[in-house]
Amino acid sequence: MTDNFTLESFSQNPFYQEVNRRLVALARLRPGQRVVDLGAGTGAVTRLLVSEVACGENAEVIAVEPSQSAIEVARRNLENLSDAVVRFVQGGAERFSQLVRKPVDAVFFCNAIHLVKEKAAVVQQVYGGLREGGTFSFNTSFFQGAEPPESLQFYRRWMMKALRFLREQHGLAPDKAMRALARQPLSRDDYVALLEGNGFRVRENEIVPVPMTLKGFEDISQYSLFIEGAMPGVPFGPASEALKHGARGAFQELGLETSPRNWLLVVACKE
Ligand SMILES: C[S@@+](CC[C@H](N)C(=O)[O-])C[C@H]1O[C@@H](n2cnc3c(N)ncnc32)[C@H](O)[C@@H]1O
Repeated sequence: MTDNFTLESFSQNPFYQEVNRRLVALARLRPGQRVVDLGAGTGAVTRLLVSEVACGENAEVIAVEPSQSAIEVARRNLENLSDAVVRFVQGGAERFSQLVRKPVDAVFFCNAIHLVKEKAAVVQQVYGGLREGGTFSFNTSFFQGAEPPESLQFYRRWMMKALRFLREQHGLAPDKAMRALARQPLSRDDYVALLEGNGFRVRENEIVPVPMTLKGFEDISQYSLFIEGAMPGVPFGPASEALKHGARGAFQELGLETSPRNWLLVVACKE
């Protein structure tokens, strides 16, 4: 069961809403546009997109998301918005060209592109699904450079404390083989090369430093996909508890109010 381990509480953090809002602003949407929200999750970004385009005629936001349970939460979260504007489609970005048939004005892929293995295939399909002049925008805090040097002590201490707690309290440890298989994240330059190599022109490319609070780290420790990456093979309950315990301990020992993390924001144009 992953229902208790959603992004819901993390997505309410003001710093998270801010980086998503910033990306949406950089894309310069207009009322009446047709927009895809890839990896829409529980709808935090979908809501922002609706507020940009909804007041124009023919506006549509297509929320594409592989997890049926996330779609159900998103439907509930967005039920006060017009059904006429939002359409939910279940599926992964890898099936973009099958899921989105008519050309759209913009595609967003927020906080999820790092989860895709075949990024080039997705970028090519997004390019094919955009009208001329359309934009592809994404942000991620899982790229090479997301953890600034001054945050490394915190990350080391967080994981050390979490692993010790997991071992001592639950007699558990992450699966080392699965950990070793975890892919190296792309760098900012890798993303730019990926886009430009597939016909896009990169219009915006920003790194935004975000001071993350302890609550932010506790909330991300409640999210299934983060837990799977940080503690592969460990059941969600104990892994989440250990990660929260580790974050609290590291904040306290290092006397932190916040710990910095970088978000990469990119807007690319089909010309
Ligand atoms: C961290 S959440 C981000 C949700 C939302 N976009 C936001 O920014 O708040 C990542 C989402 O990507 C979805 N996801 C995972 N793999 C995906 C894929 N291959 N294609 C599209 N979405 C995917 C997950 O189910 C999850 O809902």
